[in-house]
Amino acid sequence: MIKDPYGRPVTGLRISITRRCNLNCIYCHREGEESSHIPTEMSPEEISKIVEIATTLGISKIKLTGGEPLIRADIVEIVRKISEIGSIQDLSITTNGVLLEKYADRLYNAGLMRVNVSLDTLDPEKYKRITGHAFLENVKRGIKKAREVGLYPIKVNMVILRGINEDEVWKMVEFCNRMEAILQLIELVPLGTPDFGKYYVDLDKIEQELAMRAEKVIPRKLHHRMKYYLYDGAEVEVVRPFHNSIFCANCTRIRLTSDGKLKPCLMRNDNLVDILTPLRRGASDEELKNLFLKAISLREPFYKG
Ligand code: 5AD
Repeated sequence: MIKDPYGRPVTGLRISITRRCNLNCIYCHREGEESSHIPTEMSPEEISKIVEIATTLGISKIKLTGGEPLIRADIVEIVRKISEIGSIQDLSITTNGVLLEKYADRLYNAGLMRVNVSLDTLDPEKYKRITGHAFLENVKRGIKKAREVGLYPIKVNMVILRGINEDEVWKMVEFCNRMEAILQLIELVPLGTPDFGKYYVDLDKIEQELAMRAEKVIPRKLHHRMKYYLYDGAEVEVVRPFHNSIFCANCTRIRLTSDGKLKPCLMRNDNLVDILTPLRRGASDEELKNLFLKAISLREPFYKG
């Protein structure tokens, strides 16, 4: 297992496969990619080549994200090519769910293991306010379909926004429990969103309420995220990155931007390592591996203790 200079093992790669999206969420951090212009995207072959190099370094968890990953016409091929590499323990997609009903079956057959679906509200009006679109029912159908085809476990990402959805947590806990999905309550991070101060909610109070209804609480390895197992069987994770040195100290992932740059940290853009350009110029596996090692050597906790 490979470790960064701070002793953190690197086991996961989070790949943005496009900057394009079919929603326009008010809080979106765009995976930390700065410019909104659409650069060249990596081909399925390029993506799987980079994943293959990553696996030689012991990285075995692959997450595909965007933009909206299902917007890519070749998404099924991307998943298939990655899953054919063989040594992947966890292959998942983070999607807004709008196109999930259409693709769940094919993605599962191509080797996708599970999905995270971004869904912040069950109220059609609020959904429209947050995302700019009226696709709530499509997303709900997508979650159901994902469950039917066997993408398991499904996780639902809910970013808590002051004055919008903070009162919907328990409704969402119940919905997710019914769907046999794990709810992830996510703290807003100050990236990409001009209205951070307006929407930010400290999750302390919610965590206290969860603790009261929990049978057990267990920290997950990645980011030391707390997981609450409630008495009625519901499972809720709380993701709190903001000013959280424990979160950073337990970060085990590296990123790849949609234009092919290794990104050591969500919050920074001053230490990217371009791997796509060398790949396109015919770099050897050894050279590509060294670029990974370079990016890993640049990893540094953003919030330090
Ligand atoms: N703060 C916290 N999480 C965010 N996400 C997107 N923007 C933000 C933000 N500003 C998360 C959502 C979404 C995933 C792709 O990224 O949870 O589901």
